[in-house]
Amino acid sequence: MPVKILMVCLGNICRSPLAEGILASKLPKDTFKVDSAGTGSWHIGHSPDERSIAIANKYNLDITNQRGRQFSKDDFDSYDYIYVMDNSNYTNVIALATTQDQKDKVAMILNNLYPNENVDVPDPYFGMTNGFEIVYDMLDKVSDVISKKLIEKHN
Ligand code: 4NP
Repeated sequence: MPVKILMVCLGNICRSPLAEGILASKLPKDTFKVDSAGTGSWHIGHSPDERSIAIANKYNLDITNQRGRQFSKDDFDSYDYIYVMDNSNYTNVIALATTQDQKDKVAMILNNLYPNENVDVPDPYFGMTNGFEIVYDMLDKVSDVISKKLIEKHN
């Protein structure tokens, strides 16, 4: 059984598709499976935002096959680790948890770089194009830390 990791943002078209692609590229595929979801329902079935596709492409990652889906409470049982991008994602996901075990699976992703600081990965959707570069850089750095921890723990 692979270790399953879920990346969660609001729309599942900008940040979490990048987080999925970046972390998956740093983990062995036979041991780990990485997915993503959004707390919102607007982009179910949609491809990632073209700006996320472009920044991924710049760093030789192809995320075009991903499709948007909405986070559901069943995901608590399907995944071992749930990383959320910002404080509002955290609130929305935790609101669906019914047990302490489920709550314990949820973490703010950047707490792996800045422990206990609850720093947001900023939502780049309505912002300037370089917001995607900033988001990519944050997710790349934190995915280095997460992949090392996971490989140490599960290999
Ligand atoms: P994401 O960005 O949460 O990083 O995918 C967003 C994408 C779409 C919307 C909001 C945030 N939206 O309101 O449609």
